[in-house]
Amino acid sequence: MAQERLDKLLASQGVGSRKEVGQMIRRGRVLVNGEPVCRPECRVDPENSEVAVDGKLVTVKKYLYIMMNKPSGVLSASRDSRAPTVLDLLPDELHRKGLFPAGRLDKDTTGLLIITDDGEMAHRMLSPKKHVYKLYEARLDAPATEEDVQAFADGIPLKDFDCLPARLEIPQDGDGLTVRTEVREGKFHQVKRMFAARGKNVVGLCRLKIGKLELDPTLKPGESREMTAEELSLIFS
Ligand code: URA
Repeated sequence: MAQERLDKLLASQGVGSRKEVGQMIRRGRVLVNGEPVCRPECRVDPENSEVAVDGKLVTVKKYLYIMMNKPSGVLSASRDSRAPTVLDLLPDELHRKGLFPAGRLDKDTTGLLIITDDGEMAHRMLSPKKHVYKLYEARLDAPATEEDVQAFADGIPLKDFDCLPARLEIPQDGDGLTVRTEVREGKFHQVKRMFAARGKNVVGLCRLKIGKLELDPTLKPGESREMTAEELSLIFS
């Protein structure tokens, strides 16, 4: 880890907002290597310094993993001058340099999105070879059929590539318009294109699960929170 501003570092570790940690630092509540440091802009190397707040050591986590319930209308991109992105929705205390959405959801797609600064983990999660299934609930403009289920299982041929086999489930007690599909690839508009190849339009799409990790139902659209280590392991279990 390179040197970072002390206020930013503490905020990124969930100690408080930038403003709150700034006040703590100015009041002498923060010690770096046993010495009070009263300037929030002071730079520290978190790997080689001991930082304590009110006498309690802050264990600096190397990477941050955030679960977001992505709302419709925001881009899954790091920055965009024309439209709000998922990073714009993060609360101050979760902001940190190098964060990016691990896998893109379309602007109108909602649901489970992971935001992290761990590139290796994102690669493992997204690589089709790693078999991490992503579960989506799709709302269609025409009912899905058993033929669609079979076509998904066989692998849908698209113009530019053949999709890997995917699972499609049509709830028996429903109208056939709301279905669930599990795919392990994440090509551009993949789920929408798979249904379009079967003559159906997706009119609503929500990601519910990545691996065994489920979207926290208490997160309202646009809300996010840091994930636990256990949740992180559910992605790959
Ligand atoms: N497939 C899509 O078509 N869109 C998404 O946002 C995610 C998967």
